[in-house]
Amino acid sequence: MTSQGDSWSKEQSCSVYGVHDWGLDYFSVNARGEVCARINGAETTQEVPLMDIVAGLEQRGHSMPVLLRIENILDKRISEINEAFARAIQRFDYCADYRGVFPIKVNQQCHVIEEITKFGRQYHHGLEAGSKAELIIAMSHLQDPEACIVCNGYKDAEFIQLGLHALSLGLRCFFVVETPSEIDVILEQSRLMGVEPLIGVRVKLSAKVEGHWYEDSGDRSLFGLSTIQLVDVVDQLRAANMLHCLQLMHFHIGSQIPNIRNIRASIQEACRYYIELAKEGAPLGYLDLGGGLAVDYTGASTNETHSKNYSLEEYCVDIVEAISESMNANDIAHPTIITESGRATIAYSSVLLFNVLDVSRFKANKLPAELPDASSDLTENIWHTLRSLNEKNVQECCNDAVHYREEIRQMFRQGQLELRELSLAENIYFEILQQSRVLLPKLKRVPPELQNLDESIADIYYGNFSLFQSLPDAWAIEQIFPVMPIHRLNEEPTNCAVIADITCDSDGKLDLFASEDREVRTLPLHDVLDGEEYYLGVFLVGAYQETLGDLHNLFGDTHVVSVRVGGEGQFEYVEEIQGDSIGDVLSYVEYNPKELYERFRISAEAAVNRGLITVSKRQQMLRTFRESLDGYTYFERDQ
Ligand SMILES: Cc1ncc(COP(=O)(O)O)c(C=O)c1O
Repeated sequence: MTSQGDSWSKEQSCSVYGVHDWGLDYFSVNARGEVCARINGAETTQEVPLMDIVAGLEQRGHSMPVLLRIENILDKRISEINEAFARAIQRFDYCADYRGVFPIKVNQQCHVIEEITKFGRQYHHGLEAGSKAELIIAMSHLQDPEACIVCNGYKDAEFIQLGLHALSLGLRCFFVVETPSEIDVILEQSRLMGVEPLIGVRVKLSAKVEGHWYEDSGDRSLFGLSTIQLVDVVDQLRAANMLHCLQLMHFHIGSQIPNIRNIRASIQEACRYYIELAKEGAPLGYLDLGGGLAVDYTGASTNETHSKNYSLEEYCVDIVEAISESMNANDIAHPTIITESGRATIAYSSVLLFNVLDVSRFKANKLPAELPDASSDLTENIWHTLRSLNEKNVQECCNDAVHYREEIRQMFRQGQLELRELSLAENIYFEILQQSRVLLPKLKRVPPELQNLDESIADIYYGNFSLFQSLPDAWAIEQIFPVMPIHRLNEEPTNCAVIADITCDSDGKLDLFASEDREVRTLPLHDVLDGEEYYLGVFLVGAYQETLGDLHNLFGDTHVVSVRVGGEGQFEYVEEIQGDSIGDVLSYVEYNPKELYERFRISAEAAVNRGLITVSKRQQMLRTFRESLDGYTYFERDQ
């Protein structure tokens, strides 16, 4: 262990990594300096160190990376959302219920849906389906007649038939009309099957929202009926004598809405549509607000894209209050409130765990006490710059260092300087930047060009994971996820780092992090110690990441392990899903592993015939080839 730990406390680590800000009550750090999952039971709170879970996983043969799901946290989120709505309903004497539905697209994994429907049953928590495949999942997992299935997305005849079957089985399955043309299909299938549909309409609100999806909100949103189309749909239903089937109004202004004001404004506008539809004679009864409840990935509690400026309690109170005020003013019965919160339900329960394979340092090696006699003037100059550096001349010294370094490189390019002297000069250059970085906090004002000093000397930590497979949103939309070591939090993290994945793609890196109330490009990390693994966790990754991931460089699905913590703090691996093998990923891109093996066998046999290898060497090669096909796609340490 390093000696740095002596003067550093876990509280300092908590503040550096913001655990208590983004982690809500679900994560903490124990006295050993390890991140724990915090499970609040009825009477006691259990803290389970993630390192204990990792140790158990490795004993069970699962090497890193692993996607860890903590079932208790998912259950807790479902309870918290439902109970926060129940409290708001009670507070405003609201005369109808809340019904949550989980949008399957946010995490379609079987075990997740099973848990949501099993645990959510006490709250009649339902599911939202955006395709036939998702509807099939919903129909086969929900048996609760009080829970809702909300069908969004484009629907063909088969989709409608499936939904009508669900209705016949007593499930409350709504078809939300996204385009006027869907009405004909719904009415025709309903006629043919003799089952009356439950119809919803998705309205397109004019309210714009802040956050990542700003451009897709308001009039330019891709989905939903314009006012003209809405009136058309009402007329079509009335003409078919089916207006009584219009029982739900839906809107969705986008995911991850950071500003509560946008949510309030959208509800007020939505209520206007609801009231007008009621005046048209539609019975309605359900108002579905879609998703949007944000996750505070940075923990900053602001209205920035990756944060949110409201609590769950405030969200529920604002919704219930706004709907009840609008309905009361128009003497309209309070509708059942549906929300389709995906991200906020599932994000917290998953953590991506991986080990660090290597570190590329941007730190000077040990410098000599004196410069060699034959050093060039430029090397003398950069050496002198280092010697004269102090807190009064940091800016000047950094400028000089950059200048001399470039001149020295130029001399090297022109053949006037040898490799060893270039290496010495580079070393001096990095020492100047490192020492300047330490001096920066002492300055009254940090000059703008030095504000990014950390970035230019950040070490590169190579993590055993694929960004494209496990954190696609970090790549595609620059999503910030909380990242931190899951142990050694009693030691000061002295290096500033970016994290590269193992795809060898220059985009495959994590270099955007949250620090206090701002976004930063580097993360403080510890030295990796010889012979010891260094484990990092990427938190709040339960939403959207699993199925959006792709096979870049043929890194496949990671192992996925679900853990349930018991009342005494003991935990059980309730599900272990083996990640893709190399053979699996090859078959996804149309190779046949058996055929690949046969091709390799033929080459090896030909080599035997040509006397290049022995038969026993051939056997050894074939064994390695077969084992590789069966092996994990990620880096595996020698056993
Ligand atoms: C119609 C609909 N409902 C619900 C959601 C889930 O949103 P969130 O994950 O923000 O709760 C989405 C996602 O964008 C959506 O398109």
